[in-house]
Amino acid sequence: MVAADMVISANAFIIFLGGFETTSSTLAFLLLELAAHPHVQDKMREEVLKVLDKHEGKVSYEMLQKLTYMEMVIQETLRLYPPFPSIQRVCTRAYVVPATRVLVRPGTVALFPTLAIQRDGQGQSSVLVRAGTVVLFPTLAIQRDGQYFDNPDAFVPERWGQGRPAPPAGVYMPFGDGPRYCIGKRFAMIQMKTCLARLLPLVRVSPAPRAPPRARPFPADPRSPLTLHPADSTVTISLL
Ligand code: HEM
Repeated sequence: MVAADMVISANAFIIFLGGFETTSSTLAFLLLELAAHPHVQDKMREEVLKVLDKHEGKVSYEMLQKLTYMEMVIQETLRLYPPFPSIQRVCTRAYVVPATRVLVRPGTVALFPTLAIQRDGQGQSSVLVRAGTVVLFPTLAIQRDGQYFDNPDAFVPERWGQGRPAPPAGVYMPFGDGPRYCIGKRFAMIQMKTCLARLLPLVRVSPAPRAPPRARPFPADPRSPLTLHPADSTVTISLL
């Protein structure tokens, strides 16, 4: 098979976008949250030092697997700040989303020619998604929805602790879902954990001097259309 130029360019684009922007902006948000939550930072550093001690001070794949609290902190960062705030799919076969509560103002449906509203005898309405419709899944909005997460705007890594109930399927999807799930997830986790395991024993992060009162969650930069970036990622770094 000969790959068309378009396919080659599209793959190069997604590797650059997926491989660099995602982990760097996740770490930027994570450092802002660590600066705002010194107790989380201390707990993470303690874990890193303990695990490093057991592995002769060397960072290795096995050593990184033991950093379970760090993993919870990354999970919570990706919940509040998924680098891709939405994922998209093209509908290939007509599908009825059952029992959808639809609020339609007169004239609205004309804006969505590939959608149709079906009503059954009991007045229950459903959306029919026709083939060809682009469907957008708002990852960020779902992951900050109080239906699924207690105190949804708060940064609480403990919610990912062992024995805590997992959110329902399709609710937590910073790496997407289904057959087009992110192929770089493992690499991304290794990259981020390595960076933090190297950094935390050496430095402390704290809020920038004269930082504005903390908004919860930290705002994203609206000028960054492709991936979520912090509006201001300034923190103070001090050597330990
Ligand atoms: C924090 C880090 C990352 C996050 C949150 C992330 C998230 C995502 C998401 C949401 C998708 C779309 C999945 C879907 O539509 O269901 C995706 C796809 C993809 N990601 Fe990542 N990604 C990350 C890191 C990486 C890295 C490090 C690489 C490569 C080195 C990478 C390569 C890709 C590629 C090639 C795809 C397209 C897969 C396909 O279409 O089959 N990603 N990623």
